[in-house]
Amino acid sequence: MALRTIRLLGDDVLKKKAKEVTKMNFRTQQLIADMIETMHNAGGVGLAAPQVGILKAIVVIDLGEGPVILINPEITAEEGSQTGDEGCLSVPGKQGVVTRPEKVTVKALDAQMNEIEITGESLFARAICHEVDHLNGQMYVDLVEGELRDVTDEEDEKEAESK
Ligand code: NI
Repeated sequence: MALRTIRLLGDDVLKKKAKEVTKMNFRTQQLIADMIETMHNAGGVGLAAPQVGILKAIVVIDLGEGPVILINPEITAEEGSQTGDEGCLSVPGKQGVVTRPEKVTVKALDAQMNEIEITGESLFARAICHEVDHLNGQMYVDLVEGELRDVTDEEDEKEAESK
């Protein structure tokens, strides 16, 4: 496993649409392992392959209960709404308020290319939406209500308490 370089806002690769993954192979397995390591190393809760420069429809999410791998994810249902702070490893040190569904259901393939369906609420739903957006070349900064703000230590603590 190896850490990959996280591409930052302004990098063209972040605006491109990721391609469907049609088969699992060693390279893709390695990419997934590297994405998980890179996400953990950066202290993030989610990472999409385009953020490490690879245009494959793969995201990893870890809210502290172990990594969830979603290949070719497709949101099939949304319910309710939540408004709260969001950040992104490609936009370090910043956060902004984004409204997302409170609950989403996503269809995807897991790392063994088996079909899975997951329903996530709250922060998990937010992470799914944020990462699926990355696969469509969309960044949360375009959805922010008001201004992007600098993350302060105090806000970091508040965030940890509320989620
Ligand atoms: Ni992001």
